[in-house]
Amino acid sequence: MKNNPYRPVAARILKITRETAIEFTLRVEAQADITPGQFFQVSLPRTGEAPISVSSFTRDWIEFTIRAVGKLTNVLHQLKEGDTIFIRGPYGTGFPLEKYKDRNLIIVAGGSGLAPVRPLIQKALDGSIGVKSLRLIAGFKNSEGILFSHQFEDWADKCDFTLTIDKPEPGWTGNTGMVTEHIRKLSDIDFADTEVVVVGPGVMMKFSTAEFVLLGVAEEKIWVSFERLMSCGIGKCGHCKIDYTYVCLDGPVLNYTHASTLID
Ligand SMILES: Cc1cc2nc3c(=O)[nH]c(=O)nc-3n(C[C@H](O)[C@H](O)[C@H](O)COP(=O)(O)OP(=O)(O)OC[C@H]3O[C@@H](n4cnc5c(N)ncnc54)[C@H](O)[C@@H]3O)c2cc1C
Ligand code: FES
Repeated sequence: MKNNPYRPVAARILKITRETAIEFTLRVEAQADITPGQFFQVSLPRTGEAPISVSSFTRDWIEFTIRAVGKLTNVLHQLKEGDTIFIRGPYGTGFPLEKYKDRNLIIVAGGSGLAPVRPLIQKALDGSIGVKSLRLIAGFKNSEGILFSHQFEDWADKCDFTLTIDKPEPGWTGNTGMVTEHIRKLSDIDFADTEVVVVGPGVMMKFSTAEFVLLGVAEEKIWVSFERLMSCGIGKCGHCKIDYTYVCLDGPVLNYTHASTLID
C-alpha cells in the first residue's frame, strides 16, 4: 500500500479565483518538483478523477485552472476555500526548457490552452529559462472566455503580447481575428533562432502549426500539448494510447514531428 502509485495526497484549497462563468482556478497547498506543461490527476472520493494541467506553481502551492464540464469538474466548481481535494503527480512531459535557452520563444495559446502554458510564460518572464525574447499570442472565442486577465498588464510590460478575440464585439477595442491571422504577421522574426509553442483546441493547433510551417519554421522547433482521454496517467491502462505513443508518459508536451503523426 505504501508504494501504491494510484494513491493521491490531500491538498487544502488556499484560494479560489473565478476566471469566467465556468472556469476557476484552485490554489492548493502542495509541494512538488514540477516542469511547466505537466499535469496532475485531481480527484474527489466517490466523485471521480481527471487529468488537470498545472497553471501556476511556487514552492508552497500549485494552481489548477479548471473548466466545469462534467462529473468531477462540476463538483470542484462548488468547493470553497479551506476544502480539500486529492492530487497525484506531477505526470507527463513538460516543455523542454533547456531547448528554449538563448532562443526567441513564441507561445500561441487558444482558449483554455493558456492554462498549461502559463507556468512557461511565468518562467520565461522571470528570467529562469534564459530566453532571448518572448512573443505571446493569446486568442479567445469572445471576451467572456478570457482567462488570467489580471496578469495581462504585467505580461504586456515584459513581452510582446497580443490578445485577440475571434470577432468584434460591442465595447471591445482590442485585437480581433483568430490567432492564425496574428501568426501571419510575425514576418520580422529570425525563425532560425526561434522555438514555437502552440497549445489549444485540436483545430486551433492544426491550423496554427500549419501557419508556422508556411512561415518557414522547422517542424522540430514546434511544440504542442496534447489532450487525450486518460485513466491511470502512468502508462499502465492504455486509455491514452495512440499507435505506440502513451500520451500520459510521452506527452502531453510533444514535438510537432511526433505529434503530427498522431492523427486518430
Ligand atoms: C493532459 C491533460 C490536461 C488537462 N488539463 C486540463 C485543465 O488544465 N483544465 C481542465 O479544465 N481540463 C483539463 N483537461 C481535461 C479534463 O481532464 C477533462 O475535461 C475531464 O474529462 C473532466 O472530468 P469530469 O469528470 O469533470 O468530466 P466528465 O464527466 O468526464 O465529462 C467530460 C466531457 O465528456 C462529456 N460527457 C460526459 N459524459 C458523457 C456522455 N455520457 N456522453 C457524451 N458526452 C459525455 C461532458 O459533457 C464533458 O464535455 C486535461 C486533459 C488532459 C488529458
Ligand atoms: S492514461 Fe493509462 S496508459 Fe496513459
